[in-house]
Amino acid sequence: MRRIYTCRAVNEKSKFAGLMSGSDPKRDCGSTLKALLSMHCTRRAVLERALIIGDSGGIGAKLSTTLAARGVDITGLSRSRDAFDFAHPESVESRLAALEPPFDLILVASGQLCSSRDAPEKSLRELSATEMASQFAVNTIGPALVLRHAPRLMPRRSRSVFAALSARVGSISDNRAGGWYSYRASKAALNQIVHTGAIELARTHKQATCVALHPGTVATSFTRNYPGHQKVTPNRAAFNLLSVIDALHPDQTGGFFEATGAEVAW
Ligand SMILES: NC(=O)c1ccc[n+]([C@@H]2O[C@H](COP(=O)([O-])OP(=O)(O)OC[C@H]3O[C@@H](n4cnc5c(N)ncnc54)[C@H](OP(=O)(O)O)[C@@H]3O)[C@@H](O)[C@H]2O)c1
Repeated sequence: MRRIYTCRAVNEKSKFAGLMSGSDPKRDCGSTLKALLSMHCTRRAVLERALIIGDSGGIGAKLSTTLAARGVDITGLSRSRDAFDFAHPESVESRLAALEPPFDLILVASGQLCSSRDAPEKSLRELSATEMASQFAVNTIGPALVLRHAPRLMPRRSRSVFAALSARVGSISDNRAGGWYSYRASKAALNQIVHTGAIELARTHKQATCVALHPGTVATSFTRNYPGHQKVTPNRAAFNLLSVIDALHPDQTGGFFEATGAEVAW
């Protein structure tokens, strides 16, 4: 993965241009470097190869096309196109085992709000083993099976990111409304998987960052039954998520972030 450096303010850009113009022949490399560091440049990662799981979804498709427009080499896997189905773990294993590393970004953009019912549960009496098992299979176990392959698929000596789309409603401390038992629990469990995986990954992949991301409320088929809610477009969500991913640093591994880059409480 290459990096480019973007200066925050126009006057910093001018300062940079002055430094690089060679107008002061006495300035040595050391002082140039020192001046550059003092300019608070932000680092933007230049991704080279990304694996997008669920690139057929509203957010996954936009992430995929946005990255492709940036020149990133994309490998996409989806249930509808590739029979990559978290309900059938053997399909996940065979597809992932066939991939050739390295990927400097692995993004799990798949998920479901409910499966055996029309909407998430509002009360305890609506709970069913079938719905809970399905939510955990797709939202927790599936991404965990992808993470299982991350040590092999991600480079050991350069920057890489594993990100799974979680949801703010998976935050236990932020839960004031109740309801949505299966979805909430499956995303809370996903967060734990990501956090635990990050600890292990950090032992062998020092420059890897493994995170859970909340995309915001996005206008996709996922939210079509909630017309009254304020939603961002998939395009905006992809832009926001990629801005967060670009800025991630290994110090932040194991974290849970929203699309503004702010940390979400567990
Ligand atoms: N939209 C929101 O407001 C919102 C808010 C918070 C969190 N999120 C999270 O963001 C992620 C993406 O949401 P979205 O809005 O893009 O949803 P979406 O448009 O409904 O897309 C869902 C994606 O998940 C895939 N998928 C569903 N079941 C699967 C299974 N059994 N095996 C493999 N893939 C499966 C779908 O594949 P196929 O289409 O190929 O079947 C599709 O690619 C989800 O994890 C969701 O929880 C979304």
